[in-house]
Amino acid sequence: APLWCVVPAAGRGTRVGGDRPKQYLTLAGRPLIEHTLDRLARHPHIAGLMVVLSAGDALWSGLSELHGKPVRTTVGGAERCDSVLAGLDALPDEVADDDFALVHDAARPCVRLDDITRLIDRASGADGGLLGAPLRDTLKRADAAGRSELTEPRELRWRAFTPQMFRRGALSAALRQAARDRVTVSDEAMAMELVGHAPLLVEGAEDNIKVTTAADFALAEFLLARTAS
Ligand code: C5P
Repeated sequence: APLWCVVPAAGRGTRVGGDRPKQYLTLAGRPLIEHTLDRLARHPHIAGLMVVLSAGDALWSGLSELHGKPVRTTVGGAERCDSVLAGLDALPDEVADDDFALVHDAARPCVRLDDITRLIDRASGADGGLLGAPLRDTLKRADAAGRSELTEPRELRWRAFTPQMFRRGALSAALRQAARDRVTVSDEAMAMELVGHAPLLVEGAEDNIKVTTAADFALAEFLLARTAS
């Protein structure tokens, strides 16, 4: 079955500042999103990319093919999960309900190809999963005044990255259920958890940062150069 990757890129990216959404800010001479798409399209198991853009996006390059893989686009929604749902809906018919689909943030250009491979190998044996990394810092819960109220145990706590990989139909159903319940899910795995699944956590490199702030651009530039594979 062909493995497609949905790439949500419909965010306004306001946290970083700048004159355009962050996916179009320049990183090592090219728009951030181009690095991400290039890396995904180079993965041998990925058959096509479904890029989710905001309505009226005038900055999209119009790219329709990359490394011989089709690149399609569709229009996203107000929240990340709306955008992912739109992307899943727009996948070609050759992707069956029971086929797996990947979801990868446009804002994570430094993902390693070998981590994607490990996710695909391990999570397809389970009911899906995601890249992540065990928490290394001590985790505090703050009160409203910004004072540390308690320390959460660090054991068994993970940070969640993308790609995340689930069966197309199951993920769509889970995201629709979250929308009906008015729960804002911050990733696909959370939607799956809410309907009773336990996505497999696959440890990946911490290089896989979500570029969010201006400082992240400098870090990503450095990481891109050393994570080329
Ligand atoms: O804003 P944040 O960094 O969490 O966004 C993660 C990814 O989701 C980004 O690639 C962003 O463009 C995308 N997104 C989206 N639709 C939204 C909000 C975010 O596709 N409504």
